[in-house]
Amino acid sequence: MTTRSLGRLRRTDFPYYAAHPDAVYLDSGATSQRPETVISAETDFVGADYAAVHRGSSVATGEATWAFETARERVAAFIGAGERELVWTAGATDAINMIALGISDASLGLGSADLALSAGDEIVVTEAEHHANLIPWQRLAARTGAVLRHVAVDADGLWSLDGMRREVSPRTRLISFPHVSNVTGQIAPVADIVGLAAEVGALTVLDACQSVPHMPVDFSTLGVDFAAFSAHKMLGPTGIGALYGRAELLDVLPPARTGGSMITTVTMEHAEFLPAPNRFEAGTQPVSQAIGFGAAVDYLASLGMSDVRSHEEGIAEALVETVTRTPGVRLIGPAPGDERAAIASVIVDGVHAHDVGQFLDDRGVTIRTGHHCAQPLHRALGVPATVRASASVYTDLDDVARFGEALGEVRDYFGVTA
Ligand code: ALA
Repeated sequence: MTTRSLGRLRRTDFPYYAAHPDAVYLDSGATSQRPETVISAETDFVGADYAAVHRGSSVATGEATWAFETARERVAAFIGAGERELVWTAGATDAINMIALGISDASLGLGSADLALSAGDEIVVTEAEHHANLIPWQRLAARTGAVLRHVAVDADGLWSLDGMRREVSPRTRLISFPHVSNVTGQIAPVADIVGLAAEVGALTVLDACQSVPHMPVDFSTLGVDFAAFSAHKMLGPTGIGALYGRAELLDVLPPARTGGSMITTVTMEHAEFLPAPNRFEAGTQPVSQAIGFGAAVDYLASLGMSDVRSHEEGIAEALVETVTRTPGVRLIGPAPGDERAAIASVIVDGVHAHDVGQFLDDRGVTIRTGHHCAQPLHRALGVPATVRASASVYTDLDDVARFGEALGEVRDYFGVTA
């Protein structure tokens, strides 16, 4: 076992474990627990320093604006972006919708012609998408007459670079794909896909929800045009996420939402918009959540993202070993020994995923069951649902052992003998 402990992490940093000392929390792919520093950053701001941001000229407003913008700088630095390249959103779903809606507006002539799609242009995704990285592109295709193509997954739920090469053509204008699958834990060959996109002049969009919390990620080095991720999967608050975009693209992408605080000049007929990122941030922003988000990246940075990845590689290895030695349990995703994130989704022969989930829950093991917002992937696997264990920085080998113990009892409990 190669697990390196995250020496600077203490479970006592996380109030959840004080409230539930025996908890086995293996649902971090859905949402993560938060350290006290994140909770107090948000509550301290709300309790003592609360004021409007980017509005008015009071000292209180100036200080709140400084805290809000400093949080942006810290989150931007964490993912290798300039602060003009980091837009606050309601979450990753919102961020991807903002890209798709912006391109839709551009296609109607309401913005840069360079971003416009025409009938017959192609958008390429994978069959492994979370619905948040599929439905916005379906809607964009319907609005513009573009064709939505997808790279099929195999019997293990995996898609490939070769499959992507077969779907990409000179008509491809945009490729959107998951950095890490939220179901299989497959890690995408980002550099290869960015290279493929460059060959045909397509934009790239990276769904980075399941990568940014778990490994070093630098979007400028990766070379993607846009990316999306959520705070609540990376030890931060709900209600906030981020849209990354290269500055020159964000400056010409039409804003999906319009209103106060995103303009330079407004007449009764017309409005001029601020440069990025403010042109995308209409209305009152999630200020305390942004400050909590800043504290979350500070906490992760203090652990060191390379050490986080090493730790989670050990957890992934333990999950794979545990699951593959359990009779009647089939692991989907990368083969044992192959690179994966610390996510293990399984099918238990003869027992519905929801019954497995109930059985594990009764034994204090929290996992997720269902289609994990990835119905096409599950349809390709031929099952309505899987059982998913997903880890984070606070997950340890004891959690994996208790998950394995309970999983090993499921089929006996339900009287499955074959
Ligand atoms: N995307 C989250 C998950 O995979 C909700 O569970």
